Amino acid sequence: MADLSTHYLGLKLPSPLILASSALSNRIENLEAAEGHGAGAVVLRSLFEEQIEADNTLLEEAAAQHAESNPEARTYFPPQRVGPHEYLSLVKKAKKALGIPVIASLNCCAPGSWTGYARQIADAGADALEVNVYAVEADPSVPGSEVERRYVEAVAGVRAAVKIPVAVKLSPYFTSLANLVAQLQQTGVAGVVLFNRFLQPDISLEKMAPQSMMSLSTPTEALLPLRWIGLLYGRVQLDLAASTGVHDASGAVKQLLAGATVVQLASALSRNGVPHLGKVQQGIEEWMERRGHSSLDEFRGSLSQKQISDPGAFERAQYVHLILSQNI
Ligand SMILES: Cc1cc2nc3c(=O)[nH]c(=O)nc-3n(C[C@H](O)[C@H](O)[C@H](O)COP(=O)(O)O)c2cc1C
Repeated sequence: MADLSTHYLGLKLPSPLILASSALSNRIENLEAAEGHGAGAVVLRSLFEEQIEADNTLLEEAAAQHAESNPEARTYFPPQRVGPHEYLSLVKKAKKALGIPVIASLNCCAPGSWTGYARQIADAGADALEVNVYAVEADPSVPGSEVERRYVEAVAGVRAAVKIPVAVKLSPYFTSLANLVAQLQQTGVAGVVLFNRFLQPDISLEKMAPQSMMSLSTPTEALLPLRWIGLLYGRVQLDLAASTGVHDASGAVKQLLAGATVVQLASALSRNGVPHLGKVQQGIEEWMERRGHSSLDEFRGSLSQKQISDPGAFERAQYVHLILSQNI
């Protein structure tokens, strides 16, 4: 029988499959179902910086004010009154209901007083904290180095505020992602989640106005985290969580082969229901048995850039080869 247990952020997980922060993960019954269908941990839906700032105001108003700087906040919140107090109560209820680790999530874009909430989340019993740092940087006068400095400062603030392990959920849009991950590692964070998936605003030709829509991912989007996990495995000393586009067992196995410590799923479970997690888990076990693997460590990272004979496969060489071989 294949052993799927793994260590993530210093926590022991029975499986590398995690219910990602999502609309599913703010309801206790979904969290229980995830555990029942083999999840190794759950990440609760985020507490957004905007929610903290808008405590005691109508959330929709606050989200509208902040929509320009953080469109995610607007798209993810239902127009209802939610705030830090409800969030702490969710953490407590989840801890009471589940045996697997409960990872809380903070979504923020700058260093701020809200780091105090990180401490409250830890005090409420969360086993770890995922920090989703995200802001749309549209000011032409702000260089990338300044943006990175702010992100690292925001993460260091959270890291210093809590004793529980911290993971950082990142955007793929950095000039030197590997260097940023190395900087984050120096703040003492235990892992990075690659990647957050961004909802891009569209334009409605009927309304002649911008419009935002919630869309679920497709499996081809998993190639972006696959590449970066493959590049970073063995080069940084923190856990790598794959997020975006993993919809089935083969998608999960590929991320593990590239070097993922764990694999998070949101869209696949939103589309197929939480029990789909059980099928993904069963598929991983069957694959391991077919290949003669009894534990994840036997194959994790074996197809990372460091381990393969053609390291160019993860870099530009592959692009050049593919482009030059096209004859249409
Ligand atoms: C409906 C929905 C709500 C989400 N809410 C959050 C959230 O509150 N915080 C967060 O960090 N990510 C959130 N996400 C992003 C997911 O955690 C995940 O990173 C992203 O959807 C890509 O993974 P997937 O391809 O498995 O969906 C949400 C995703 C969906 C679909």
